[in-house]
Amino acid sequence: MSYSYQIKSYEQYKKDYQQSIDDPASFWSNIAEYFTWRKKWDEVSTWNFKEPKIEWFKGAKLNITENCIDRHLKTMGDKPAIIWEPNNPEERVRTVTYNRLHKRVCQFAQVLKNNGVKKGDRVCIYMGMVPELAYAVLGCARIGAIHSVIFGGFSAQSIADRLYDANAEFIITCDGAYRGDKVIPLKNVIDDALIGNRTVKKVIVYTRTRTPVSMLKGRDIWWEDEMEFAEHQIEKDGIVNFPAEEMDAEDPLFILYTSGSTGKPKGVVHSSAGYMVWTNYTFINVFQYQPGQIHFCTADIGWITGHSYIVYGPLSAGATSVMFEGVPTWPDAGRFWDIIDKHKINILYTAPTAIRSLMGFGTKPLEGKDLSSLKVLGTVGEPINEEAWHWYDENIGKKKCPIVDTWWQTETGGILISNLAGITPAKASWATLPLPGVQPLLVDDKGNEITEKEDGLLKGNLCIKAAWPSILRTTYGDHERCRTNYFATYENLYFTGDGALKDDNGFYRITGRVDDVLNVSGHRIGTAEVENAINMHAGVVESAVVGYPHDIKGQGIYAFVIDSNTHGDDELTRKDILQTVSRIIGPIAKPDKIQFVKGLPKTRSGKIMRRILRKIAEGETQNLGDTTTLLDPGIVEEIKNGKI
Ligand code: WT7
Repeated sequence: MSYSYQIKSYEQYKKDYQQSIDDPASFWSNIAEYFTWRKKWDEVSTWNFKEPKIEWFKGAKLNITENCIDRHLKTMGDKPAIIWEPNNPEERVRTVTYNRLHKRVCQFAQVLKNNGVKKGDRVCIYMGMVPELAYAVLGCARIGAIHSVIFGGFSAQSIADRLYDANAEFIITCDGAYRGDKVIPLKNVIDDALIGNRTVKKVIVYTRTRTPVSMLKGRDIWWEDEMEFAEHQIEKDGIVNFPAEEMDAEDPLFILYTSGSTGKPKGVVHSSAGYMVWTNYTFINVFQYQPGQIHFCTADIGWITGHSYIVYGPLSAGATSVMFEGVPTWPDAGRFWDIIDKHKINILYTAPTAIRSLMGFGTKPLEGKDLSSLKVLGTVGEPINEEAWHWYDENIGKKKCPIVDTWWQTETGGILISNLAGITPAKASWATLPLPGVQPLLVDDKGNEITEKEDGLLKGNLCIKAAWPSILRTTYGDHERCRTNYFATYENLYFTGDGALKDDNGFYRITGRVDDVLNVSGHRIGTAEVENAINMHAGVVESAVVGYPHDIKGQGIYAFVIDSNTHGDDELTRKDILQTVSRIIGPIAKPDKIQFVKGLPKTRSGKIMRRILRKIAEGETQNLGDTTTLLDPGIVEEIKNGKI
């Protein structure tokens, strides 16, 4: 098997790119021909960014799991679909063949059906990185239920908010999850999230850690019991199957919550056909995947990267996808390199923050590790600095592996700007060229295209001109929010929230967010969200949160807090605030620094001047810019002096 739509040269990239712009309908229908459809499309795409209303492969019928599993069974049934590496390297590796994956997904789809889950129902998934998480996701897709995976680092309150927003009636979880030397009691967190909840009907609990859990009669059921019961139901005359639900091309496949510049995370909705085609196409082209290769994406399935490049992209391509339960630094900082050696990994896709953190341990953890199986390296989630890029190139790729710097977002569904491994040129810390079908545009704050160079480069806000197949369709339950967030800033453009540079070759370099969104270790966190959480702590009068450069995390969270300080113990109050943020959002949103201040720099109209706070947090003391519009310029000196 080879992939007929895999781009094989720079020349072909240019040709394909041009064709995708000139005649998108024939470009995408030629590619879509290679998928399994119950019925083909009437129209390749129709869209407008005004409402927005976006449709791809309109009129087509399909089920994504038939493309990710069933169509591979004849020729690759015995090939590994998922290789699972446990948290503890001494525990047994699990290899899930396509045949086994088919059986388990069918079985779990049957479990969902037995418990009353129907097409279109929202199912919340809160699990560790075990193969059962993949079965759960695909089981939902098989019966047409909409999965909403929540990362294990979110708190009970965050889960409760997401359950409510999606009106989810079903939850799939684990008793606990292993992460390094810790056990995270997932079911306990779910129990807290469900206090007072009246909508959730069933909670399915998979046993991973044997952490004691409370199981409410009638509501909470064991995964293992349900799977055993379903096993005979899906087998008839020796043939195992659970017929996949026929889905419309535009039926929603999943919801994934992500932070924005306002307080509440939004549920990004992706649809079936466009998302499927895009994740498959980008997986095959960006990583230049060859049949038989072993692909290791280190993300958690709780984030979009895991959805698109552990599950849907690789499996739809019939690839072998490695799923890792643990963390890069446990039992030691050589864990990734051990995994690469052990499983003969060909493609490693990870985040700059992981590279920077491992770089900090030097090359000792690399000693004795055979990394010669590696062919392609990738990064995602945040800008990669040149030092980390070169370390990755020299020490991991041994200068023989192309590095793809892939820029994309939860909302984009898959990679939009990236070099193609070994095919188009790489440039350290540049994402470089758009994928076919993607038309980036740099604009100024008024929405005019940037045409004047600064130091030889174009610099502006990154927008995308036309719809690509996996663009978000809406934000769950609030379409207007989708419109105002992404399509209203600039007319007829999708606005990414990122700033970017463009060079004379047409290469793009993403410089980071231009809105009030932080990127901490490749995870998106809204400053307003963190402020809301801090402000909930008794005694806090007001707060302002900004990002600052952090050696490993990329950005750290710096909070300026006005607090009534009735106890007089700043250290204790600091810890209390961290506890509050953990409760409200989750441990991932805890500020790295909290500075108590008497006041915040505000304009006469009462607006906090974050620009000044950002500069102070960055360590700038001289050029704070214009402070004449401040209500009380004296406050700035005080804040500067108290910087931590
Ligand atoms: C934001 C999206 C895409 C999956 C992981 C994050 C930043 C992402 C890059 C890159 C520079 C990047 C952007 C983007 N980002 N990839 N290669 N270079 N910045 O998904 O949580 O939706 O965050 O991550 O700022 O807007 P996300």
